[in-house]
Amino acid sequence: MKTVVKNIGLLATARGKEARKGREQGEIQQIAGTYIVIIDGRIATVGGEHTAPDPMICEDATIIDAGGALVTPGLVDAHTHLLFAGWRQKELALKLQGVSYLEILKQGGGILHTVNATRRATPADLVAAGQESLGRMLRHGTTTCEVKSGYGLTVEDELKSLAAVRELNGLQPVDLVATFMGAHAIPVEYQNRQQEYVRLVCDEMIPAVAEQQLAVFCDVFCEDHVFNLAESGEILACGRRYGLLPKIHADEITPLGGAALAGEVRAVSAEHLIYADDKGLAKMAASGTVAVLLPGTSFYLGEDFARARAMVEMGIPVAIATDFNPGSCPNESLQLPMNLACLKYRLTPAEVLTAVTLNGAAALCCAHDRGTVEEGKAGDLVIWQAPDLEFLFYHWGVNLVKTVIKGGEPVL
Ligand code: NIG
Ligand code: FE
Repeated sequence: MKTVVKNIGLLATARGKEARKGREQGEIQQIAGTYIVIIDGRIATVGGEHTAPDPMICEDATIIDAGGALVTPGLVDAHTHLLFAGWRQKELALKLQGVSYLEILKQGGGILHTVNATRRATPADLVAAGQESLGRMLRHGTTTCEVKSGYGLTVEDELKSLAAVRELNGLQPVDLVATFMGAHAIPVEYQNRQQEYVRLVCDEMIPAVAEQQLAVFCDVFCEDHVFNLAESGEILACGRRYGLLPKIHADEITPLGGAALAGEVRAVSAEHLIYADDKGLAKMAASGTVAVLLPGTSFYLGEDFARARAMVEMGIPVAIATDFNPGSCPNESLQLPMNLACLKYRLTPAEVLTAVTLNGAAALCCAHDRGTVEEGKAGDLVIWQAPDLEFLFYHWGVNLVKTVIKGGEPVL
């Protein structure tokens, strides 16, 4: 199957097969007036300074006319909790009264509310809900996304959730990468028996997830009143022994030292990092850990914004993701986080583009395969209702996606 995307006004893309860090995070390629040929789902040609290929090449191809618009790689959302039942709009009133996120969780609400609903949900319910969210993601330009479990918190319900992710992967165009996150909260039945829950995660959940090959990564919510540093380290080490690569929710609400732990266990990525200190960040820089920053969550929880600028200067590759979940960030679109990354983190449009494409892919260990528009990579593109990259960061709060191409096929 061959697809030609012609009449591209501007192609903007990072380059390479690895995370970009430091000055390189903002060094992207921009080609005015070009075309792209995709064969069997892979990018075969990037046209240089021609807006259409040889007519012979077009003969047996599906032709998509970009109409002079901006084209970028498909967006990679490297951090979501999209598989759940149990939205939490009722918590909005509490939030407006000033009750904090961790306070709501301590009262048995928050994540635990969603856990109750997810346990009651059938696999078919979860798949249907996931499909709705993924449809919204796709319409906003996401072509690859990570999905964490963590609303089951029993062996059976964690496996049910990850099996639903596997099913969803084959049902719709967005490619999914699964993360096991049994250590997302302490379930009610284990309150005051935290160590026993850690044993359940390590001795039963992780071996079962690995045996059924249901996840690539293992993640932990390392936070005050959730999992402490020692427990987080133990769970991540156990995951690694079973072939699940470490990720960690670190220093989101309190400065616990999660960033340093991420560096010590050579985590693929550390997420949130709002209160990460310089020592922790230096360890992450040394271990090549990707910082997955979630500005939508800072916005929605009224938290501070992570020190993205400092992280780039320290040579940490920065990715931006949605954190889509029913509590701290009920939003599937990467476009508002992109705007926030520019305006609140003070990253340049080029740095943000790298953060939501190549560096997002690096956080999912698939930067060799996607995240840039280069020959051999996946034919995942977004055609925008925008003439240039700056426009995406300027015209905000609306969906600027015109067309999404996934593996060479127009899916929107
Ligand atoms: O990344 N921090 C922990 N987990 C999610 C929130 C999940 C929820 O509130 O349901 C997060 O913000
Ligand atoms: Fe999260």
